[in-house]
Amino acid sequence: MRAGTATTTDLLQLSPDFVRDPHPVYAALRAKGPVHRVRTPQGPEVYLVLGLQACRAAYTDARLSRDWRGQGRLEQIISVAPDDPSLAHMSMADPPDHTRLRRLVSREFTPRRIQALAPRVQQITDTLLEEMTANGARSADFVAAFAFPLAITVICELLGVPELDRAAFRRWSNEILAPTSPGAQSAAYAEQAAYLPRLVQDKRAEPGEDWLSALIHTFDEDGDRLAPDELTGMCSLLLIAGHETVVNQISNGLRALFAHPGQLDLLRADLSLVEGAVEEMLRYEGPVESAPERLALTDIELGGVLIPAGSTVRIVLSDASRDETHFPAPDRFDIRRDTRGHIAFGHGLHYCLGAPLARLEGRIALRSLLTRCPGIAADTDPDGLHWLPGMLIRGVRELPVRW
Ligand code: HEM
Repeated sequence: MRAGTATTTDLLQLSPDFVRDPHPVYAALRAKGPVHRVRTPQGPEVYLVLGLQACRAAYTDARLSRDWRGQGRLEQIISVAPDDPSLAHMSMADPPDHTRLRRLVSREFTPRRIQALAPRVQQITDTLLEEMTANGARSADFVAAFAFPLAITVICELLGVPELDRAAFRRWSNEILAPTSPGAQSAAYAEQAAYLPRLVQDKRAEPGEDWLSALIHTFDEDGDRLAPDELTGMCSLLLIAGHETVVNQISNGLRALFAHPGQLDLLRADLSLVEGAVEEMLRYEGPVESAPERLALTDIELGGVLIPAGSTVRIVLSDASRDETHFPAPDRFDIRRDTRGHIAFGHGLHYCLGAPLARLEGRIALRSLLTRCPGIAADTDPDGLHWLPGMLIRGVRELPVRW
């Protein structure tokens, strides 16, 4: 059977509510087939891959590239100069470059190395909860008071980033991953490009016990090391990928509990369910809605659809995790379900390097929060929340809570 040419579906026309609740839109498309050409709310046309099986197949198809710079097609997906050093990282590389860049840092991310960080993550969490509840406070914006400072403090301490202007960093990180406009995105890249090489330089002059110092001085067995641009790129990737995801992992998870009071009661009554709850939060409403864009290097037939060479392809992780052929009653949030097989951390070569750290932060955050503030509840109507734009990161800008 020959692959068919897809017609374009406008996501916003399909549902004006798409940004707030994309799951039914993805499910309706998936019922017709796993691959669709769509116009996104931001305007460009992309091919969406839906359902667990097709998403896994796309992830392991070497004809779908992450090396946009090498292909000279960067402007198709982001507003930044192709020689911006913050792009010289593993997430925008294919093998063999990807293999080399990932090998040079992966020794820092073994589950054992990460587990050793638990006491410090616990300390940071406790301090933040103490500050959030100080002076009899009974309400806060959970993102600003807890999720963001936890995620950013952990990754900054690990990397050895000293006095980052956190408000500025949060703004530029948001604009890089969930841009409000192409101009705002390129301005954010420019701010970052002014900051990161200086940071690497300072660290080279005064090394410490942190990851960045280790990366600067690491040689692998073959005598290979990261070049200056690659250090800047690695820093950018770890700082941004290492915090933006965790912020939304924690706040999306809490929103899911608020929307399912029975599950919140269950967890509060038995905190040994925390590990399963974190996995279910990742499956039900993970922070990465769809993987960063892939470029079709040749014409590719996937799910009976022809994806022409040069097309942008998005693997929709949040739909793979709601595929009823793998997860029965997928729209039910159930912290005791079997979540094995979810791909909230991706799949294949680019599988999240930070997954053990993210899980550690998620579990400590949730357990400590429910111990310190057992009566925590939403302090706003969910319809009034402001969603991050774009299809990469799923989450809200603020989450008012009371306890
Ligand atoms: C719940 C939190 C997190 C989620 C859901 C998540 C999800 C993901 C996903 C889906 C990918 C694959 C992207 C692709 O398809 O190309 C990825 C890659 C990556 N993540 Fe995470 N991430 C999380 C936290 C973290 C943390 C805490 C760090 C760092 C400390 C981190 C570092 C990375 C890196 C370096 C990559 C690139 C791997 C590669 O290209 O080989 N992530 N993450």
